[in-house]
Amino acid sequence: MQGGCRVMDIAGDRVRNAHLRGKITGAAQAAERIKNGYKVGVSGFTGAGCPKEVPRALAGRIRRERESGRELRISLLTGANTEAGLDGVLAEVDGIAFRSPFNADPVVRERINSGETEFLDPHIGSLSRIVRAGFLGELDVALVEVTGVTEDGRLIPSTSVGNNQVFLDCAREVILEVNSSQPSGLEGMHDVIELLNPPHYPSSRILSPACRIGTPYLSCPPEKVKAVVLTDRPDDTVELKEPDADSRAISRHIIDFFRREVKAGRLPENLYPLQSGVGNVANAVLFGLLDSEFEGLEVYTEVIQDGLLALIDAGKVRFASSTALALSPSVMERFRANVGDYRDKILLRPQSISNHPGVIRRLGVVAMNGCVEFDIYGNVNSTHVNGTRMINGIGGSGDFARNAHISIFTTSSVAKGGAVSCVVPMVSHVDHCEHDVSVVVTEQGIADLRGASPKRRAERIIEACVHPSFRPMLEDYYARALEGSPGKHTPHLLDEALSWHTRFQKTGTMKT
Ligand code: COA
Repeated sequence: MQGGCRVMDIAGDRVRNAHLRGKITGAAQAAERIKNGYKVGVSGFTGAGCPKEVPRALAGRIRRERESGRELRISLLTGANTEAGLDGVLAEVDGIAFRSPFNADPVVRERINSGETEFLDPHIGSLSRIVRAGFLGELDVALVEVTGVTEDGRLIPSTSVGNNQVFLDCAREVILEVNSSQPSGLEGMHDVIELLNPPHYPSSRILSPACRIGTPYLSCPPEKVKAVVLTDRPDDTVELKEPDADSRAISRHIIDFFRREVKAGRLPENLYPLQSGVGNVANAVLFGLLDSEFEGLEVYTEVIQDGLLALIDAGKVRFASSTALALSPSVMERFRANVGDYRDKILLRPQSISNHPGVIRRLGVVAMNGCVEFDIYGNVNSTHVNGTRMINGIGGSGDFARNAHISIFTTSSVAKGGAVSCVVPMVSHVDHCEHDVSVVVTEQGIADLRGASPKRRAERIIEACVHPSFRPMLEDYYARALEGSPGKHTPHLLDEALSWHTRFQKTGTMKT
């Protein structure tokens, strides 16, 4: 952040409350407030709305403290994965003792898998309830990026709402980062309300993705705010890859499935509200809808990515509710230039509401999420490669899968250049059980598991989804399981099913 007049211009423009203007300080000074062992609730959901300055300053301080023989490690709570300037810099200096929820930073991932960082992986829609209930103990500091502060001290949220309100409510003290690179036109695009203790859940008032039940602002008693830091660093989001052949094939299978559902009268012509997970496959499905006949679509999801903005621009999506706006830099420019046009088409909510089981069930959301592998009976592993190595976390996939009207899981049929089958006899780790999964899709095809008993599911999955190089092995396994399994409802040869992962998945060889 540059100093001098520019800082004062930004301060006057973005920090309109005189009391909080008096709290403006440098990042290093703000970071001093964070002590060893502190539990810190930080804004940020994907690359959207993370604080940019204090984490960097804190990482520098951690390094210096360590050089002087002093320990400084924190418990880090966020909305979801964040950017390299937050998770990445803190993990580089081994400053994260405990982290929750979803993470996608490679350095943090290594520390989780090596056991240096403890990781709690709840459904991301539940973290606010866990924090508010006190299950994680006292929260010391909330560090939250905002777009600005109004004259009367209300906080204009940034590109994500995430868990910010619960962090502001529960932390003993608050550090704000006011980011002047976030479009001021974001004001009015949020709907903030927090779930208090049961049974007073106002989420029952959401009857469509466009329903507003809260206020456009975050709130925080001014006396709790101990420091305000200014920044003009933009969100660190990545350009998504062009959809590859597998993603395009998966997208075609899903769109054909929608057509069949509409024809059969099981979905309306504009479908039910869609949820689409993060990543390239999810983005490809959205781009696929762009060329389809579907229109008047609504979206109830947790992240708005480029593909969704393209659908809004094309007039295909009439409304999208989310908790984060994670656009690649070039698409963010388009958003910024036309922010007024998006005001009545996009709403950002706390993640406890965007991922609320009751709302997802009530709206009949059609959920589409990626996974690592699924098994022949429809159990899904979204998190652990070979059963023990965490990739990212469950994220919101469980919030949606369990409660969706139709829950779809996607993956390429093979990974690691074809050495590994993503369809297996028994998943090496279960995130979504057979009871919560409606449809599974690979580039090979789609298996509709609804209404099917375990054996019918196995037949459909092996026929539709498996890569040809692994199909004979799975057919052989299933035939022998039908013969040799002691119970015939979900036939398995347990030793063989479990050792599949060490025999084939690790070595990549088809030899037993
Ligand atoms: N066995 C071994 N490795 C596998 C594998 C398998 N069955 N399936 C995937 N992998 C590896 C890939 O090779 C890749 O590793 P690499 O980067 O070293 O090559 C890595 O896992 C990620 O796979 P990729 O296909 O690039 O991931 P993706 O972008 O399709 O995302 C998930 C898949 C599961 C990682 C992602 O969807 C996820 O994190 N899901 C859980 C959370 C979620 O669903 N959130 C959305 C809710 S809104």
